[in-house]
Amino acid sequence: MTAAVVRACAARRAAVLARMQPGAVAILPTTAEALRNGDAEYPYRHDSYFYYLSGFCEPDAVLVLVAARGAQAAQSILFCRAKNSEREIWDGFRHGPDGARAHFGFDAAFPIEELDTEMARLLADAPALWYALGHSAALDVQIKTWLAAVRSQARSGVRAPAEAHDLFVLLDEMRLIKDDSEQATMLRASQISARAHTRAMKAARPGMFEYELEAELLHEFRRSGAQSPAYTSIVAAGANACVLHYVANNAQSRDGDLILIDAGCELDGYAADISRTFPVNGRFSAPQRALYELVLAAQNAALAAARPGLPYSGMHDAAVAVLAGGMLDLGLLDKAVVGSVDDVIAERLHQQFYMHGTGHWLGMDVHDVGAYRDSHLDGKPSRALLAGMALTVEPGIYVRPAAGVPEQFWHIGIRIEDDVIIDAGGHRILTIDAPKTVAEIEAAMAPA
Ligand code: GLY
Ligand code: MN
Ligand code: MN
Repeated sequence: MTAAVVRACAARRAAVLARMQPGAVAILPTTAEALRNGDAEYPYRHDSYFYYLSGFCEPDAVLVLVAARGAQAAQSILFCRAKNSEREIWDGFRHGPDGARAHFGFDAAFPIEELDTEMARLLADAPALWYALGHSAALDVQIKTWLAAVRSQARSGVRAPAEAHDLFVLLDEMRLIKDDSEQATMLRASQISARAHTRAMKAARPGMFEYELEAELLHEFRRSGAQSPAYTSIVAAGANACVLHYVANNAQSRDGDLILIDAGCELDGYAADISRTFPVNGRFSAPQRALYELVLAAQNAALAAARPGLPYSGMHDAAVAVLAGGMLDLGLLDKAVVGSVDDVIAERLHQQFYMHGTGHWLGMDVHDVGAYRDSHLDGKPSRALLAGMALTVEPGIYVRPAAGVPEQFWHIGIRIEDDVIIDAGGHRILTIDAPKTVAEIEAAMAPA
């Protein structure tokens, strides 16, 4: 854990505490460990919200924040696993409460076994409780138990919190704007992921299996220090690229196929999310190239709309306008039958070939948190982009065989996805290192 992350987490806790009522208490547990099968566990991944405020990656931990009241200063309290020399021989190092307090800057820390006793004490006379309303049945049960313990002291004049607030609503908005520490980590995650895509492109040969290319990605992720993929990698050869969430990755490529790879690593809790599409033999065919140039033009149009003050939805609208025009020009849609670009968009006919959105927030979660619309305004308009927002820009085109669709385009699936952070001047592309134009891809794949 770097000093910068410790400082960033402390600043975020202070921001949350400043939003709470005097004496209010916030409760935020991390994720539980999960069995995969038999005695084997899934690799442990902390809860994103918990990590955002704590920087702490061990399981069995709960963060409690108590807002300042009168002479009583605000407190950040961690409950975590106690040191245990026997368990540490089997499972590895634990910070323990004292170590956690010293390294992560909490005001106090207790063994997790003391949570029930301490919560009954901390919630006594607290005016309000902040937690993730309705997200965890297990937490709801714990809170019920703690409140019952507080209410049992009512005859002594002790009051239980009378208000509950959704902690996630507050944290979602904070997480939407990435601070310097987050932006630095996301850039590193993107650079590693761009190298992984480049490596897979360079390794590709007709006849290779999808999983062989997946292995190239994993190799680059891990050798660069990324902990894991941020989501299940998609490596789709030929027609498999038209399956949007294809994850089998077990088919053999054939000469002439395009390969669509959608993969990004998770580095220190932050995701990258890149898609590239390239010919397995290193040269685009004419129909592949025509569709590829169309998707790239759509992405460039979307990127031109990635600026502070413009609506989030503008990027999608810009991409759809270009794609719809291209579908008409290339004969995917028949002008004589469907009419103009405006008609295509109004009738949503482009959705035959482009059926997903043009991006999403990106951060600790690959589909990161944060509202897309101003829900309090009439008509719930798309919200304006702000400096510090991180998002993907990922138009695509997916051509399944159908009557009237030129056969030369059948089974071609293309997606081009980059990660950007909005800044004062427009945006910064974090994933710029992954070859993207036809010329860049063909050059990267050319024999040395
Ligand atoms: N890889 C998930 C997505 O592109 O949204
Ligand atoms: Mn994405
Ligand atoms: Mn993706």
